[in-house]
Amino acid sequence: MDWETVSFDHENHVTTITVDRPDRLNALNVETLEAFDEALDEAAARDTRVLVVTGAGDDAFVAGADIAYMKDMSVADAQTYAELGHRVVNRLESFRAPVIAAVNGYAFGGGCEVALAADIRVASERAVLGQTEIDLGIVPGWGGTQRLARLVNDEVARRLVFFGERVDAQDADQYGLVGDVVAHDQLDAVVADMAADLAEKPAFALQSAKEALNQVHRMHLDAGLQYEQRLWSGLFGTEDQKEGMTAFVEDREPNFE
Ligand code: COA
Repeated sequence: MDWETVSFDHENHVTTITVDRPDRLNALNVETLEAFDEALDEAAARDTRVLVVTGAGDDAFVAGADIAYMKDMSVADAQTYAELGHRVVNRLESFRAPVIAAVNGYAFGGGCEVALAADIRVASERAVLGQTEIDLGIVPGWGGTQRLARLVNDEVARRLVFFGERVDAQDADQYGLVGDVVAHDQLDAVVADMAADLAEKPAFALQSAKEALNQVHRMHLDAGLQYEQRLWSGLFGTEDQKEGMTAFVEDREPNFE
């Protein structure tokens, strides 16, 4: 866990991965993406029940892919870089536990795409988000065109991608791009409370909930409903189901594994 540009913390089942390159507003160069990928291995190896992703410093969540690095890339380089970026955001999306993006500042381009891959986005009132790639002569390349259009309405997605508009936290909230806007100095506390609440929930049930919800845009409705049924029935093999229902019947608080 000796990465220069990513820091890692694991406490009380909550893992926090912080992109830590504040002199470049946490822009994701190759080294940082590789460190992020390894940090995800570490998070998966621990008993992580909630994963929080944020950026170091007071200004940026992640200001995007590294423009200085991308400037002279060939098509082949671009493909390799896109694959690495996709790998990291896909791993966030499919991470077994809920992922919370604590959007503490600028989240542009690849930074917005990292936030889009999270389950929950909590923004500081200072956050500014956008798929700004159009003004660099490119388009979102780490899942933005697909995830944005699934999260917000289609015209909002098109406007954001076509104009490269940078939207403040309030507008992002109105568009449905983030779920919550909080005072900047409250962000860590709000996210910590949310993470602690989720960490106490039955972990297998949460995992199943995430897996089922992740299929909404992947499966046909009939297949998704079948999938939900199988996940639901499988949970009756867990101690948490026994405990949750027994606690209800005995009129006490459940004590999940
Ligand atoms: N890639 C590489 N370097 C970046 C970067 C990025 N995405 N975003 C910021 N930086 C660097 C700047 O070049 C600058 O480096 P320098 O100190 O060597 O000049 C440093 O981070 C600080 O950024 P700066 O632009 O001076 O800060 P600012 O407060 O004036 O502006 C932003 C902040 C985020 C508005 C501005 O940096 C910006 O627009 N960044 C690009 C955002 C973007 O389009 N991202 C999508 C990429 S796909």
